[in-house]
Amino acid sequence: MADLDGNKIEKNYYTEKAFATNGNFHVKGAANLDWGMKKHLTNIFNPRTGNTVMFAFDHGYFMGSVSGLERLDLLLPRLVDHVDVLMATRGALRSCVKPNFRKGIALRVSSGSSMLNDDLSHEVVAVDIEDSIRMNADALAVQVFIGARGQLSSIDNLSKVINAASRYSIPTLGVVAVGKDMERTDQYFKLATRIVAEMGVNIVKTYYCDKFEEVVAACPVPIVVAGGKKLPEKEALEMAYRAMQGGARGLDMGRNIFQSVHAAQMADAIGKIVHRKFTAAEAWEYYCEATKTK
Ligand code: R5P
Repeated sequence: MADLDGNKIEKNYYTEKAFATNGNFHVKGAANLDWGMKKHLTNIFNPRTGNTVMFAFDHGYFMGSVSGLERLDLLLPRLVDHVDVLMATRGALRSCVKPNFRKGIALRVSSGSSMLNDDLSHEVVAVDIEDSIRMNADALAVQVFIGARGQLSSIDNLSKVINAASRYSIPTLGVVAVGKDMERTDQYFKLATRIVAEMGVNIVKTYYCDKFEEVVAACPVPIVVAGGKKLPEKEALEMAYRAMQGGARGLDMGRNIFQSVHAAQMADAIGKIVHRKFTAAEAWEYYCEATKTK
C-alpha cells in the first residue's frame, strides 16, 4: 500500500528516558494543574518519594463482607499508620474511619451489580460531586471496563466524574477492570491505561504484567498497581518490587494486605519497598522479622 510508505510501524516507548513535562512537581503529568489539584495529589503521593501505598478495601461494594473485611472497625485501626491512602466506599469511610484520620482518601464513586450477576461491567455513578466534597475526597475512583459489554457506560461514568471533579480541582482515579475472560497482557493494559489517561484521569490503577515498563512509559499519569488475588506474602512482595522497578508510583493493594494473617506487617513491608527502596528480599526479611513473635 503506497500510503504506508515511510510510515513508522514499530513502536518505541523510550523507557530509558524520564517523563519530559513534569516541571518540578512530584506527580507525573500534573505539572500544569492548579494548586487545589496539586494539594490533593500531594495528599496521595508523598512529595519526598513521589510514591504512595494505598490500602484498597472497597470490595464490599460488589462482594459484600469478603473474607478479611468482615469487621472494618477492628481492621482499620491496625492498618492506618502503615499506609498513605484509604481507598473505600463512602459507607465504609463514614461508619468505620475516624474523621481525624489525616491521610489521603480515594473515594469509590462508581458502583454496580453484585458478584451474583454474571456481568459486572455495567456500573453507575453512585456518589455525586457534592457528597464527594463533603467527604473531603482527594481522588474519585471510577471502574472502567475497556473491551467489556459495559465499556460505553463505564466511559460515560468516567467522563461525568472527571467533568464534575475538575470543577472543584479534585483528581480522578481510573480503575482498569479486567473481566474473568480477558487476558492480562501488556497489549491489553497499554490499550486500557492509555484510553483512561487520555480521557483525563490523574491516576491510573491497573495490574502488573510483562513489559510493564512500556505500559508505564506510554501512560502520561502515574500508575498504581492493584494486588489482585491473595498470593503468599513473599510472592506479593516480589510483585510489588517488580512493579516499582517497572515504574509504578505505588501499590493500591487490598487482598494481599487484608487477607494476610499479619495485615499490618504486610502493609508495612510494602511501604518499605514503595518509600524506602527495599528489594523484595529485604522486604521479606523485614516482614519475617516483624512477624516472628506475633
Ligand atoms: C476492585 O474492584 C477494587 O478496585 C479493588 O480495590 C482492587 O481490585 C484492589 O484490590 P486487590 O488488591 O484486592 O485486587
